[in-house]
Amino acid sequence: MNNIKINEQRLWDSLMEMGEIGGTEKGGCCRLALTDLDKQGRDLFVKWCEEAGCTVSVDKMGNIFARRAGTDDSLPPVVMGSHLDTQPTGGKFDGVYGVLSGLEVIRTLNDNNIQTKHPIEASVWTNEEGSRFPPAMVASGVFAGVFDLEYGLSRADLDGKTMGEELERIGYNGSVEMGNREFKAFFEAHIEQGPILENEEKTIGVVTDAQGQRWYEVKLTGQESHAGPTPMSSRKDALVGAARIIDQVNKIGLENSPLACATVGLMQVFPNSRNVIPGEVFFTVDFRHPDDAVLSKMDAALREFANSTASSLGLEMEFEEIWYSPPVPFNKSCVDSVREAAKLSGYPHRDIVSGAGHDACYISRVAPTGMVFVPCENGISHNEAENADPADLTAGCDVLIQAVLLQAS
Ligand code: GLV
Ligand code: MN
Ligand code: MN
Repeated sequence: MNNIKINEQRLWDSLMEMGEIGGTEKGGCCRLALTDLDKQGRDLFVKWCEEAGCTVSVDKMGNIFARRAGTDDSLPPVVMGSHLDTQPTGGKFDGVYGVLSGLEVIRTLNDNNIQTKHPIEASVWTNEEGSRFPPAMVASGVFAGVFDLEYGLSRADLDGKTMGEELERIGYNGSVEMGNREFKAFFEAHIEQGPILENEEKTIGVVTDAQGQRWYEVKLTGQESHAGPTPMSSRKDALVGAARIIDQVNKIGLENSPLACATVGLMQVFPNSRNVIPGEVFFTVDFRHPDDAVLSKMDAALREFANSTASSLGLEMEFEEIWYSPPVPFNKSCVDSVREAAKLSGYPHRDIVSGAGHDACYISRVAPTGMVFVPCENGISHNEAENADPADLTAGCDVLIQAVLLQAS
């Protein structure tokens, strides 16, 4: 099977067709979790899987599993997959590539009449991005027992709509119980979302680890007041407090560089009127680092600065860490299978640590898990300009099929 190759044109065409659902003028994709567009994308995936002869099931968090039978169907499946939801200004590859490369593996096995001992599944995990419903990776987290089902279904968007309500509305509130089943292995193929592979001219990233993350929500409350008559000395300006903390978030990232990342990506200002001193500001913080001890140090530095800033400005503060995802070492046997698969397929490769979160991070808690990275243009992702070379996407899928066969035969 060393020379089995996937169908490059079919993989690319499927990515482009899926990318039309929520396609943006700038060539990206906006398909937020559990919207009508997400339903359309899911329906298309399910249709393609059924055409490929798979049996499709959906669990209570809306995760989709498309199964190709093994010669011994009582054995645990080798599962591939990622997510179909995108960021508001997302691209056509983040997540979608991991889902459709799973489907392409199944299609290629069909074309070549290859039977595997273990069943093979292509999967879609709900709301990986955490953009509409924080936190990220919530449905793979429920599958892995990190969160309970009630927590998962009650995650709400900024309008108060919950994942449970929206799953029901789009008809993906499946009946399969969460988790409770063994995977022989789980593999997620993904674009790197950073510049390393492209800069080093490596086609394949053998992902050994993923960095840890801490997400926070901060609400500062001061006092709305007239922008003209209110003297500077007697203001309680919530936005000034937020601005100082946001600048410090950036400094904490820089102080722990080159590996730390620190981002404020969402802010709401009330009442958001140009001649009213802002009485309330809500914002989020995203901290990442591969070393848990450094991530804890960043956490302590943020808490101390936020507390002292709020009190010195006379602001009330609600500060909540809403998510902690520790650094993840992937399974040695799966990592070795990816490396071996890259060698068998003849693609230049290197070991790499994932900067982004992935469903594989949570699945790794309940199943042997590995990831395959491919380069993306200029390392850009979470951006409509996200792009990847069809030949690199093909290489990643060739490696995926080899790694799957190593585990499933
Ligand atoms: C998911 O895309 C993340 O890493 O934020
Ligand atoms: Mn992703
Ligand atoms: Mn993403």
